Amino acid sequence: MVAKKTIRDIDWIGKRALVRVDFNVPLENGQITDDTRIRAALPTIRYLLEHGAAVVLMSHLGRPKNKVVESMRLAPTVARLAELLPEAKAVKGTQATTGPSVEAASRDLRPGEVLVIENTRFDAREEANDESMARELARLGDVYVNDAFGSAHRAHASTEGVARFLPAVAGFLMEAELAALQGALENPARPFVTIIGGAKISDKIGVIENLLGKVDALLIGGGMANTFLLAQGYDMGDSLVERDSVATAKAMLELAAGRGVKLLLPTDVVIADAFSPDANRQVVPVNAIPAGWRALDIGPETVSAYAEVIAGAQTVIWNGPMGVFEMAPFAEGTRAIAQAMAACSGMTVIGGGDSVAAVEQMGLAEKIRHISTGGGASLELLEGKELPGVAALNDR
Ligand code: 3PG
Repeated sequence: MVAKKTIRDIDWIGKRALVRVDFNVPLENGQITDDTRIRAALPTIRYLLEHGAAVVLMSHLGRPKNKVVESMRLAPTVARLAELLPEAKAVKGTQATTGPSVEAASRDLRPGEVLVIENTRFDAREEANDESMARELARLGDVYVNDAFGSAHRAHASTEGVARFLPAVAGFLMEAELAALQGALENPARPFVTIIGGAKISDKIGVIENLLGKVDALLIGGGMANTFLLAQGYDMGDSLVERDSVATAKAMLELAAGRGVKLLLPTDVVIADAFSPDANRQVVPVNAIPAGWRALDIGPETVSAYAEVIAGAQTVIWNGPMGVFEMAPFAEGTRAIAQAMAACSGMTVIGGGDSVAAVEQMGLAEKIRHISTGGGASLELLEGKELPGVAALNDR
């Protein structure tokens, strides 16, 4: 891991910090339904304000496809930020993303004040990482701070391009995410165990391949386990399987065996006769799935085996649910893994997406050492890729 400069390396007095945050929060009827990402950016914003800076924030929200979409304006996030930051002298938004009015607003900003510029993706040049937009953004601040770990896998004007035109450092959230995820991958206390779930093997081939070079044990659950079991010759009934990925699954099993990595698959599953919470269900060994039934969760014997491996681990990273946890009758496997993570005394990390939703739903988030705010970004790190938003920052 190349160490990057951080906001601690800058004398902020009288400077404008241009900070990329990830305020891509879920909205329902204009109301924020989960403000975790806004809260996660507060330590950086507070530090900058306390150290004499004026703060210009930029973020995307949703996928507006290069035009202004009224329902994707950042106004609700500006209002929420103002509530969360009573110490700021002002928290204001702009109507535009770039242009003379935005430049004037940033020039007029005083130390202790916060300005949030409008959704960066309203400008067609953002996703194209257009140099003219990067230069315009750079005029809004004296130093660029990237605290948007969740968007660090995107090489856009506000996440990568702008870093070429200003001193560029990491914020505290970025630093914490990299320390937890990259730290675990590069220098794990052992045994190092990862749990990978989710519906499809095809989404996570790169992750599994990379992890097989690093971990002591890999526990597989969720729909993707079905394809591995099919590759081992089990009849999976009506379960979701990816026939195109069977050869890949076989190759992964061989790779694991060749590297001496313990790759665990379910030995029993919860099956149902329909994809519905009201379906009939039963627990069966993986060699006894009747025709017309499908696996929707890992079974209790698998849960105990996985929980035992997790209990003995010094580092655990989890990504992806063990079953269809959105339906209560098939949430037990995911719940049990969340509980095993919560009880583990080692470094526990949850890498984004559905597994985060699961631990939060179960009220176990407090007991996990690091919960990532990045879904796609954490997957790319687990794949061993360099994140462009991180690479662009100044080295120490
Ligand atoms: C996310 O929600 O994962 C990030 O904000 C990135 O969003 P994107 O997938 O639309 O680039």
